Amino acid sequence: MAQLVSIDRPDSEAQRIAGERRSQHLVTAFVITGLLFMLLPGTFLGVWNLLNITQEHGPASISQAWLQAHGQAQIFGWIGSFILGIGFYSLTKMQSTRSFPARAAWTSWVLWSAGVLLRWLGGVTGDAWRIVLPLSALLQLAAFVLFFLSVRRHRPESGAAKLEAWARIVIASTVVFLVGLVMNAILLFHQAVVAGTPELPHVLDQQFVTLAVWGILVPTIWGFNARWLPVFLGLPKPSARTLYAACNLSLIGIVATCLSWLPVAMVAFFISAWLAVDALHVWKPAIHPPKVVNVDPRFPWFVRFTYVWLVIGTVLGMLAVIWDTSGGIWGASRHAVTVGFVAAMVFAIGQRILPAFCGMRILWSTRLMFWSLVLLFAGCFLRVLSEPLAYQHLWAPAWKILPVSAVIELTAVTLFAVNLGMTLAQPPAHLRNRLASAAPE
Ligand code: HEM
Repeated sequence: MAQLVSIDRPDSEAQRIAGERRSQHLVTAFVITGLLFMLLPGTFLGVWNLLNITQEHGPASISQAWLQAHGQAQIFGWIGSFILGIGFYSLTKMQSTRSFPARAAWTSWVLWSAGVLLRWLGGVTGDAWRIVLPLSALLQLAAFVLFFLSVRRHRPESGAAKLEAWARIVIASTVVFLVGLVMNAILLFHQAVVAGTPELPHVLDQQFVTLAVWGILVPTIWGFNARWLPVFLGLPKPSARTLYAACNLSLIGIVATCLSWLPVAMVAFFISAWLAVDALHVWKPAIHPPKVVNVDPRFPWFVRFTYVWLVIGTVLGMLAVIWDTSGGIWGASRHAVTVGFVAAMVFAIGQRILPAFCGMRILWSTRLMFWSLVLLFAGCFLRVLSEPLAYQHLWAPAWKILPVSAVIELTAVTLFAVNLGMTLAQPPAHLRNRLASAAPE
């Protein structure tokens, strides 16, 4: 038996390395797709929308289909692609994985990229939208089902240790992701059959955005934060019970939003955000030294600061229920959560982990990492401050600040993309070292 094990080992080791390489190529493809969606269909269109809103002094006159296309590109085109890529990559790290499901993974990438691209094109151009939008939903759903089945097939063997809280939360948000894509398909088929335009009715659209943000993006981040913050920031182990309570409250908030009980929903999101802060100990002192090699040394503070934005977003949500008459406080609330929390978290953690996931590389520039985050926070601050003041007609000069915020955020996003792009263009760390030592003196 002992002999068998020793004979088997080189084979399984070679298989493991080959699987790791394949999954690195795949996660790189998903990351590049996500970056492209973030830049052009996502942020550039968002900036364009904001410039038009500023010119018209209000959001009413601009195309709702374009607003919705921007939101879809950011949530599904960018963050969704990152989630799928990291999810497939994680399969190689699971105990029961014998081989990487390369065919399913690449098919999923093709279907997903085509689906999110068609969703954006259908919304922005309006060409053949009755066919293009439902088709986009089917492609996204098919891609995600392939991902879901691969994850299920490769789950840890029975007898392996009990699932930890972070894994349960990530699995739960994956299930909500699937539910979200089914609902997206139902909404778009319904739209294609009964409606006269590609834009979803406002209330339905906002309910769907709430499901996507509070059911998919936020809990996925909490799950991965529970896994990584004790390691990267040296924080105490998260409290599983409090984190489950935070997730349950965010689900209650989603249900309340769908029932149009907005005061209940906003209070639920507010408490949920505080519970997550408490459960993850984000604002408590570290008990171990943080791991900041090859990233900006202020990385732990950036991560902590994203939670300030999450709480601000939920406070603005409660204020919006009471005072909003123009969409400005709602817009500021959503922006604080999507940009201040979600995008900034992806900038911070992404630049920490993705270079390694995409082939054991080292981040190209820690200085660009610093500036991308500082500018993102600065742009977000100006936007969240000026949007309610401008839209609610409280302070006219706020209209002049909004375009400035958009350009600062566009710069931040571009720096992030350049930094990751250059990182991926570099050879892996071990090859760089070998090349450096082989170079003539
Ligand atoms: C980085 C620069 C960004 C700019 C300039 C921008 C701009 C805008 C604008 C002008 C709107 C219209 C609503 C309003 O008046 O507030 C909007 C809506 C929205 N944005 Fe952004 N945004 C940005 C980033 C993001 C990010 C990173 C996400 C998500 C991760 C996001 C998700 C959304 C969503 C979901 C909506 C609502 C769309 C809908 O009503 O269906 N945005 N954005």
